[in-house]
Amino acid sequence: MRDTVNLRGGGSAFVLDLSGPTPVIVHWGADLGESIPDGVPASPVAHSALDRPPVQELVPQASSGWRGRPALEGHRSRGRAFSPALVTTGSRDLGVEGVEITMTDAAAGLVLSLEIQLSPEGMLRLRSTLRNDGDDDFTLQSLSTALPTGLGASEILDLTGRWCREQHPQRQSLRQGTWLREYRHGRTGHDSSLFTAVGTTGFSNRSGSVWATHFGFSGNRVTSVEKTPTGPALIGNAELLGAGEIVLTAGESYETPLTYASYSARGLDGVTDTFHRWLRSRSTHPATARPVVLNTWEAVYFDHKLDSLVELADRAELIGVERFVLDDGWFRHRRTDRAGLGDWYVDEDVWPGGLASLIDAVRARGMQFGLWVEPEMVNEDSDVIRAHPDWISGAGFGRTPVGWRHQQVLDLVNPAAFAYILERLDALLSNNAISYLKWDQNRDLTEMGHTGAPSSHEQTLAAYRLIDELRQAHPDVEIESCSSGGARVDLGILERTERVWASDCNDALERQTIQRWTEAILPPELVGTHVGPTTSHTTARTHSLSFRAITAIFGHFGIEWDVRTLGDSELLELSEAVALYKKHRALIHSGVAVHGDLVDPAYLLGGSVAQDGSEALYSFVCLATSFDEIPGRVGFPGLDPDVRYDVTVIFPTATSPYNQRSNAGWIPDGITASGRFLAEVGLPMPILNPEQGVLIHLVSSLEAAGL
Ligand code: GLA
Repeated sequence: MRDTVNLRGGGSAFVLDLSGPTPVIVHWGADLGESIPDGVPASPVAHSALDRPPVQELVPQASSGWRGRPALEGHRSRGRAFSPALVTTGSRDLGVEGVEITMTDAAAGLVLSLEIQLSPEGMLRLRSTLRNDGDDDFTLQSLSTALPTGLGASEILDLTGRWCREQHPQRQSLRQGTWLREYRHGRTGHDSSLFTAVGTTGFSNRSGSVWATHFGFSGNRVTSVEKTPTGPALIGNAELLGAGEIVLTAGESYETPLTYASYSARGLDGVTDTFHRWLRSRSTHPATARPVVLNTWEAVYFDHKLDSLVELADRAELIGVERFVLDDGWFRHRRTDRAGLGDWYVDEDVWPGGLASLIDAVRARGMQFGLWVEPEMVNEDSDVIRAHPDWISGAGFGRTPVGWRHQQVLDLVNPAAFAYILERLDALLSNNAISYLKWDQNRDLTEMGHTGAPSSHEQTLAAYRLIDELRQAHPDVEIESCSSGGARVDLGILERTERVWASDCNDALERQTIQRWTEAILPPELVGTHVGPTTSHTTARTHSLSFRAITAIFGHFGIEWDVRTLGDSELLELSEAVALYKKHRALIHSGVAVHGDLVDPAYLLGGSVAQDGSEALYSFVCLATSFDEIPGRVGFPGLDPDVRYDVTVIFPTATSPYNQRSNAGWIPDGITASGRFLAEVGLPMPILNPEQGVLIHLVSSLEAAGL
């Protein structure tokens, strides 16, 4: 067995000392090179404290004297084995990137194995498996990962939200105590933070040290940042288990979801870069150009009529749409959101000839066809629940959970319910030329239960299995994870889906923040971003088409608007935006995401820089009125300092109304400057009113000259 493990990748390192009875984390942070000291000096022993120096255990346990949150909590009957004393009993290399460590408590009958991997991109992944080696049941309360933050860590940043306002940042000082986020939604949740980051004072987009984690799971979960009087702050992640939810019988195991973690010495953009690179390195990552979507929801809602939908498809084709998605309202009894969920048969009254007439029309116009489904849900007013009232998930005792959007959760842990829904989805995909499913999940369920016992864990795994089995049978169908917007955005669901719907809010102003922070972890090609109606349906704000387009271009672009109502000039501007997206999507979907550190909160600068530095696209947008008369100069981060770039403003076009005023004397075409100049001196930005923006394209002069 090795005494020391030094995992290295992407400029970071994870160093473990295995020489003692339990594994000790020596370091998680910057790469230290190949050679590390044999031993690190021990901390002093404090008065009235443990009689041995505190160390940072990989698996913090009360049996070692740890008085914070233990990594493993559980017990046998009447509390026996309540405090495990796991010791290292083995380690095994997992290729060059990782190690598996086994820890055993023979007296308590428990074996814990931990897989730890650090990818070349710097993505640290941890997963634990607990096996009950005893003769009787072991009730598991929690099994978490605990990662230490490094020198100077002093601030916590995470995200929160609600329906139509997902992924908003909140920052606070790191103090003694525990910053605890519990998500008891039965799904990931609108308030769920895509990451928990701890960093040095004032860490920003481009500077400071940051230790960040993400938990790859779509059910109940808990994250924590814990600072005790002993040692560094720990970032914890675990599934949140219900009372008696996991009872391991003799020989049974429980496996945790994956904790993902990234250290960056160059601010949040470094964390983003690790996540983007790692996600893009997956064999399942979408490899084809992300098609322009038209989604029918905000265009027609439940009002499905073949004629109007074909008209919509006509317009979509004209604008350059590549994928037409029929949203909610196509199945039996689904005339409103009060009925029909679960009855996954095409509604014979609304679609007398089935969906084929629309699908054929869409495909004849050169577009793929996509369909909305919400397989994990039922309305009580549905044939399926009238026939099987016991298929509703809940706490038992004949109690039906409080409704949410008039719907209930289908108990997927019930094999009959699972088989029914799998058969329905399989039939739909087998009988129709469907290329894409928008897979929705529109409610929280705090009392997720199967036959009276908590089942958030099993239900989440069953939902995963449902998608996996369907995908196996229909490998070419892409799936989007939607959950009343962004209530199921995590790397667990993204193991089996091609994109997420970030929010039901298509208001471009709100979307600027939602997307900036969703894309802190997810590359833009995985995030659905649509141009919505002129006046937003969820906020009643009115925005110019150019602002809506600029906002939607930095993602997987689509349209969710009744484009039949557009006049000629709007049609032209929307078609220009579609063409622009198509021209630049290869760059946006493969480049390095960068975010400026602007002092003035009125503005946002974000962009995508080609991996070889030869090209970049930035958006500069105004979110609110500024205290300054003019925005002044803005530096462009992430460029190659030694490359000369030609700078062009590509959107809005010169004819847009506000441009005539604000563009007077601003960035004449034909400016050329080095990446160093553009970063250090910057360029003056135009005067923008709130909710206006510009897209700025930079291309290496050599590239532009074809050299
Ligand atoms: C959810 C989704 C929306 C839409 C509706 C349909 O709210 O997030 O995009 O699909 O359901 O009912």
